[in-house]
Amino acid sequence: MAVKFVADRWGRPKDSLVAALYYLELGCTEPAATAAFYGRAMGYGITQQDASWIAEAPGRCLILSRGAPKTLLSAGFAVPDVGEIELLQSRLDAADRPYTRGATYLFQEAITLQDPDGHTFTFGIPAQARAEPIERVPPARLQHVVVASRNPARIVKFFIDVLGFTLSDDVLDDEGGVRTSFLRCSHEHHSFAVFLAPEDRLDHHCYETSDWNAIRDWADHMASEHIRLQWGPGRHGPGNNLFIFVHDPDGNWVEISAELEVVGHDRPVGKWIHEQRTLNSWGQGLLRS
Ligand SMILES: [Fe+2]
Repeated sequence: MAVKFVADRWGRPKDSLVAALYYLELGCTEPAATAAFYGRAMGYGITQQDASWIAEAPGRCLILSRGAPKTLLSAGFAVPDVGEIELLQSRLDAADRPYTRGATYLFQEAITLQDPDGHTFTFGIPAQARAEPIERVPPARLQHVVVASRNPARIVKFFIDVLGFTLSDDVLDDEGGVRTSFLRCSHEHHSFAVFLAPEDRLDHHCYETSDWNAIRDWADHMASEHIRLQWGPGRHGPGNNLFIFVHDPDGNWVEISAELEVVGHDRPVGKWIHEQRTLNSWGQGLLRS
């Protein structure tokens, strides 16, 4: 799938990463059933590759593999060129963090590493454009992934200091402790977020669609497939994006979003109160941290 980078418009702070979420590999109890759900819910074309199921559609890709549910087995971010990989490699060397280099199933050149919670992240240049299925649903570009962690501060430090992400917003509790952090690697408010929880796990992934009318069309599409909205429509505080959520068969939240905030590189870090209104300025906020 084609990836459009707008780093020129965004500007490029020193030692920062320019990347866009490209694929996710999710642990599934029954990968075939989860793949069938994503085919219905998100309009993916499904193929089997060894023991995994590959879900592909314009602007999005999932790999569904047998494993513990609510587990992020790996995440792939597309980068604009080999220079971006070299920069990341130099930061990993400076931090004395292990990595591997080389081609992967979806990237012609890539660097792969683990974060402090053991999640695998690959940053690479997409392989030759694959034949993309015809879009049967409104637009949906894979845009961000969010994890829960027992030690989010350690994850945030790694993502900023080593990977080169930039902090957009923090959500703070009454004692000033950070409950959630939103991190960006482009002009978009966040491509990754992490929140404090009693366990390390995948929370949700999100697809950015074109506008408010497309949110309506997605809700109508879910209705036609007898898939209930679990949350929303609403509007998040951090990122200011409109949203709806459904559940996949493994209990993961799946978000469809629009109007995600576009930011400049010199944007100050935002601070938010840990309350329902921060999660949803329109109504009920489902606090998970
Ligand atoms: Fe989200």
